[in-house]
Amino acid sequence: MGALHVAVTGRAMAVVERDGTHDPATGRVLTGSWLWDSSLVLASHLAAADSARFRLRGATVLELGAGGTGLQGIAAVACLGAARCVLTDMRPLLPGLRANADANGLTAAQGDVRELRWGDKLEHQLRVDVVLMSDVVYDPLDMPAMAATLRGLWREGREVRDSVQDCMGVLREHGFEVAEVERVTMPLLRDPDHTAAFAIYRVSL
Ligand SMILES: C[S@@+](CC[C@H](N)C(=O)[O-])C[C@H]1O[C@@H](n2cnc3c(N)ncnc32)[C@H](O)[C@@H]1O
Repeated sequence: MGALHVAVTGRAMAVVERDGTHDPATGRVLTGSWLWDSSLVLASHLAAADSARFRLRGATVLELGAGGTGLQGIAAVACLGAARCVLTDMRPLLPGLRANADANGLTAAQGDVRELRWGDKLEHQLRVDVVLMSDVVYDPLDMPAMAATLRGLWREGREVRDSVQDCMGVLREHGFEVAEVERVTMPLLRDPDHTAAFAIYRVSL
């Protein structure tokens, strides 16, 4: 077992690696035993991009293929204003995820650790605002299962109200060109425990 330290928004994050965590089914060492460089690249991007930080504020973040370290989800909560993270991967990696959440001061509610194999649904469904993934797209054969899991996580909260879309349809019927410029899910001003999806439209004649 080894510990690294990486900085996200100037805060030192502890990364505990459990070398050689095995998959009991295959006997092979799981790739999630270590932190991969891509993880540092994505964490830096999230820290630097204003729009990413805006999306994370108050959000429930799910990290898919979090390995044993869960840096994206943990940094989202510890450094970037997310309310909680759900760290997911294969079962043998879960103790590592718990150890990393604890090492960075996340409570059990802020850092929820769950088994999630691609193709499966989460055991207890929950509303997720943002899914983060680093270094998980390398085998095209895995993609159908990953797509099924992502689709299962995609829930209504992300949809802009139907009535707004109907109104835009009427404007289109009246000759306006309507384009959605950006869609943002964020905590509500007067009810910050809940989020809603907002769209910015460009309306032109
Ligand atoms: C290269 S590692 C990346 C780990 C971590 N995200 C990082 O960047 O350091 C790929 C991760 O995807 C997970 N993974 C691969 N196939 C998976 C599957 N079918 N279901 C769940 N997790 C999977 C592995 O267990 C591993 O933790």
